[in-house]
Amino acid sequence: MLTDKMLDKLNDQINVEFYSSNLYLQMASWCETKGLEGCADFLKSHADEEMGHMHRLFTYVNECGAMAKLGAIDAPPTDFANIDAVFEETLRHEKYVTRKINELADTAFSEKDYSTFNFLQWYVAEQHEEEKLFNTILDKMRIIGTEGRGLYHFDQEIAKMIDGHGGGSVMESEA
Ligand code: FEO
Repeated sequence: MLTDKMLDKLNDQINVEFYSSNLYLQMASWCETKGLEGCADFLKSHADEEMGHMHRLFTYVNECGAMAKLGAIDAPPTDFANIDAVFEETLRHEKYVTRKINELADTAFSEKDYSTFNFLQWYVAEQHEEEKLFNTILDKMRIIGTEGRGLYHFDQEIAKMIDGHGGGSVMESEA
C-alpha cells in the first residue's frame, strides 16, 4: 500500500516521464525541419521509450490499488540554437530526471515502503544508462563536429544508435 506522500511523488514522476517524451518528440520535430533525419528518428524512438517509462509507473501505481493521476504537462521548448544545443539539453534533462528518481528512492526508503524502493531500482539503473547514452552522443558530437560535412556524418552516427545500437567508438564506425 502506498502512503499519500509516496503516491503523490509517483504521480509527479508519471508527469516527468510524459514531459520527457514530449520534449524528445519536439526535438525530433525541430531536427526534421533542419533535414537531420537520423537525429529525428533517434529522438522519436527515445520519445517512445519515455512513454514506456511512464507506463511502467502508471501500471505500478494501479497495481498497488491506488489511482495514477495525470496532471498538466508543460509545453517543451521549440527553438534550439543548433543541434549541439539539442543534445546538451537532453543530457541536462536526464540529469534532472536522475535527481527526481533519487528523490523518489529516498522517499520510499524513509516511508519504509520497500516494495516501491525495489520497484524503483529499475529506474535507478535506467538513469545510469540514459546519462551514459547522452554522454556518448556528446562525445561523438565533439569528435565528429557539427559544422559542414561533420553535421551529415554526425546525423548518420545518431541514426545508428536507435534502439541502443551504435554505442561503439566513432573511429570504429568510420573505418
Ligand atoms: Fe525516463 Fe530518459 O528518463
